[in-house]
Amino acid sequence: MKPVSLLLAVALGTATVVSAGPAVIECWFVEDAGGGRLSKKPSALLLRQSSESPPPRPDLDPERYLKVHDPAGTLLAAFRRYPRDAPAPRCEMSHYVPLPASAIWVSGLTPEQSCPRALDGRWLMVSMSSPVLSLSSLLRPQSEPQPEPALITVATAVLTVLTHTPTPRIRIGQDALLDLSFAYTPPTPKAATSLAPGPPPFGLEWRRQHLGKGHLMLAATPGLSGPMPAAREGAVAFAGWDDDEPLGPWTGNGTFWLPAVQPFQEGTYLATVHLPYLQGQTTLELAVQKPPKVTLTPAPLIWAAPGEAPPELLCLVSHFYPSEGLEVEWELWGGPEGRFQKAEGQRWLSALSHHSDGSVSLSAHLQPPPVTTGQHGARYACRVHHPSLPALGRSAEVTLQVAGLSGPSLEDGVGLFLSAFLLLGLINMLGWAAAYLATSEDSVEKVRHSTFLYFSLLILSPLPNSSPEGGCWLGGQNPDLEFTQTCIKSCHLKHAT
Ligand SMILES: *[C@@H]1O[C@H](CO)[C@@H](O)[C@H](O)[C@H]1NC(C)=O
Repeated sequence: MKPVSLLLAVALGTATVVSAGPAVIECWFVEDAGGGRLSKKPSALLLRQSSESPPPRPDLDPERYLKVHDPAGTLLAAFRRYPRDAPAPRCEMSHYVPLPASAIWVSGLTPEQSCPRALDGRWLMVSMSSPVLSLSSLLRPQSEPQPEPALITVATAVLTVLTHTPTPRIRIGQDALLDLSFAYTPPTPKAATSLAPGPPPFGLEWRRQHLGKGHLMLAATPGLSGPMPAAREGAVAFAGWDDDEPLGPWTGNGTFWLPAVQPFQEGTYLATVHLPYLQGQTTLELAVQKPPKVTLTPAPLIWAAPGEAPPELLCLVSHFYPSEGLEVEWELWGGPEGRFQKAEGQRWLSALSHHSDGSVSLSAHLQPPPVTTGQHGARYACRVHHPSLPALGRSAEVTLQVAGLSGPSLEDGVGLFLSAFLLLGLINMLGWAAAYLATSEDSVEKVRHSTFLYFSLLILSPLPNSSPEGGCWLGGQNPDLEFTQTCIKSCHLKHAT
């Protein structure tokens, strides 16, 4: 069974590679229905067909069932590399009327006063957008739908403008590279031969639209002279044809570069490629972001006595952008109620503080409730979610020490106990020796008493509170009684204060 399924998987995998991307794009044909209303009718674009004849679509008017003929290959190639798991693109189609561009700086493209006859006839503009691409294409349908074998209209892609980065997300201060490619197939061979051989002059325009304001960012007309608007904000574009075949089709590159992006440069970027009487346009949504830094104070430890509340925790979430979409969660890990829970306690957020680069900071506060001994070693974490971070977010944590439980570790305790045990034996022996030698009952009592005290102190006093210099830690030497007694006194004093 296994090799068969493996073979099947391999075969399926190969098939996926060969036929990646959708073969048909469902579209809406949008038309002015008069009185300011728009009508939407279903339509479809057939990009590829697996059999001899196109799949029949009796649900569609044949004028709105289009088989794409793409001599430049840009439109079809974009969909061949379309990821299988990406959502289908939103697609709209409408009538298009060839017109000269209105801006003065592109007027050099249309020196003649009237539109050439070669551009006569019906034109359609199709626009598609999805998370992986955004494009528009000017299509020239053949005058009649093909009657056989299925009713479909062949349409030639004349001008396609395409980006593979429809929603670039750029970190504050980094450069943005907005990818743009375009392709042009002369609508008739006559249109090509009437001009000088080689790709035609063109105009490239990048605009930004933000909060109702529009700016021309960059304009270029390679191959034409004349006054040009200056580029803004240090923007640069690559504007050129990739090849100079005499008759076309041609592909070109209009990639836009914006240095050290700041939040005010967010917005919709419109890229337009101007050819005589034809304009192809696509849009990109540039978002700026900066992931927050997360620090927790106090750190790395907080102390509290059982029944008392630990100090207030402050989680500093700093230098992030945008301010929207930030979430702060407080977690408690390893408490008595299991591995993980939401932390209890009073919490609040500070106001935003603004920085010169446009980013913001805030602090989140948590006043944890009183602790129990079972919470010793638990960890408080401040977890921050933000659109600029992966789904898990970013966190910082602090470990809770419950006072009185923060003493020596188990091994230390065992060692201490054994030392005390041996010591006790030693002291007892000394005591008995002393009792044997001395006749005074009083002195025997004193020795017994001090031995007991010493033993209890060793058990009760946590190691960090007694230092070798303080004389409470007895090394390997035989302690004499007097020393033991002063030691006990100094320890006593330490504990009393
Ligand atoms: C366009 O030009 C830019 C800059 O040279 C380059 O990075 C990009 O790959 C080019 N795009 C295409 C489609 O060739």
